[in-house]
Amino acid sequence: MIILKSNDELSRMARACKIVAEALQGLKEVVRPGVTTAELDSYVESFIRKRGAIPAFKGYRGYPASLCTSVNDQVVHGIPSARRLGEGDIISLDLGVYLDGFYGDAAISLPVGSVGPEAKRLLQITEEALYRGIDMARVNKRVSDISNAIQGFVEAAGYSVVRHFVGHGIGMELHEDPQVPNFGPPGQGPVLKEGMTLAIEPMVNRGGCEIAILDDGWTAVTKDGSLSAHFEHTVAVTNNGPSILTKI
Ligand code: MF3
Ligand code: CO
Repeated sequence: MIILKSNDELSRMARACKIVAEALQGLKEVVRPGVTTAELDSYVESFIRKRGAIPAFKGYRGYPASLCTSVNDQVVHGIPSARRLGEGDIISLDLGVYLDGFYGDAAISLPVGSVGPEAKRLLQITEEALYRGIDMARVNKRVSDISNAIQGFVEAAGYSVVRHFVGHGIGMELHEDPQVPNFGPPGQGPVLKEGMTLAIEPMVNRGGCEIAILDDGWTAVTKDGSLSAHFEHTVAVTNNGPSILTKI
């Protein structure tokens, strides 16, 4: 069942989303060669708590941290640790916040120091794929119009979209209906309506789309060891087009 949000609910949700956006913005200054992923996690956790909000991922199905930190061939759900980032790495940072009854969820992928041209292009294409998907989040389009726009753009660039994880509705729960895959034919799935709130989140691999889960039970990696990137926004479908709630 897809839960539509009223304008009042959307403005409450926007407050949670703003904290996500600002925390990710702050992380851009913290990510550099030599920093550990655990340091990134403590930075965002204290940022969120200072704002009176709650890190949504911590304890979610037993996830042990506030932030997901996925480096290089890690796709999503990398657990913060004593690992130090190195010059030339790329890192995906995925963050959820709960405030006043509502969730916000967003992710960015960043270069660590200066990175090679292929890494740079992967980051650009994945972010652009997110915006191609968001542009389809319009009243009377269907969910898979988002999916198809993302897949078409990514594959035309020579990369692959991960199928194992999908975007999702979001609101009073972190994961609500509908699922929002990053692949598929256009014109399928639920019709988009005013007040729907979706977390759109393409995960893009330089190589094949297959993934494996590490023994920690969380970290998803590319099976072929290729680089992977992830961008995500929480978006509201409105009569004026898509409204990106996690935008700075
Ligand atoms: N953005 C991811 C998602 O929507 C968050 C991972 S959930 C957690 O599924 F387990 F890491 F908390
Ligand atoms: Co999400």
